[in-house]
Amino acid sequence: MERKIIKTGDGSTTIHIPEWNEQYHSKHGAIQEAYHVFIKHGLEICNLDEISILEIGFGTGLNCFITYLESLKNNKKIHYTGVEAYPVANSIVFELNYPEILEAENIASIFTKIHAVSWNEKQEISEKFDLEKQEKKFQDISVENTFDLIYFDAFGARVQPELWTEQIFEKMFKALKKDGILVTYSAKGSVRRAMQAVGFLVEKLPGPPGKREMLRGIKSDIK
Ligand SMILES: C[S@@+](CC[C@H](N)C(=O)[O-])C[C@H]1O[C@@H](n2cnc3c(N)ncnc32)[C@H](O)[C@@H]1O
Repeated sequence: MERKIIKTGDGSTTIHIPEWNEQYHSKHGAIQEAYHVFIKHGLEICNLDEISILEIGFGTGLNCFITYLESLKNNKKIHYTGVEAYPVANSIVFELNYPEILEAENIASIFTKIHAVSWNEKQEISEKFDLEKQEKKFQDISVENTFDLIYFDAFGARVQPELWTEQIFEKMFKALKKDGILVTYSAKGSVRRAMQAVGFLVEKLPGPPGKREMLRGIKSDIK
């Protein structure tokens, strides 16, 4: 499928797929959305010194890069696993303006390093941050009791409804440790119900700019 780089509302770029009229991030602001959904409502409420994160849809590596930047501020140890079946070509990745917009040009080499990590091999980005990029389909995830936090960042249910089902959320629920958290930009009723059906305690939270709400699920014993 054709992929085009476009500019979003906060000046950061993203990838647009004309065939689906779908983007890798919100058109209102790629970086704003990533911080709001995954950092503010995910990473920041994870009260652990060492956090294992699973990203559903590694894509451009933006979420991974901002998680790395956050880990520098809070001195947490991060184990990051990004699953992706269709890696983005480096010729596109390095056209994206994330290091510049994040004013992280002094560590743009980290963005490069993240993308240089070989697929299916755990590698250290720094002493406090390791990364494993797994080239496979979400449908093939079968780990249990492994992650503290999931960034659920699949393309929307409009274009990939098969990724927002009870079957997939069941895999996510199993992959989380007890009290683990899943955050997603979606606020669809059908998504909320699928998450609840597999056992998540689901909260609606204010969405990022341009979106009223988003969802967060906790793997809690308390219902
Ligand atoms: C919304 S984008 C992810 C954006 C990404 N988190 C970022 O920060 O750039 C969704 C990603 O899911 C990937 N994808 C789509 N279907 C998939 C599947 N069945 N299994 C694994 N990856 C898939 C796409 O290639 C795309 O990179």
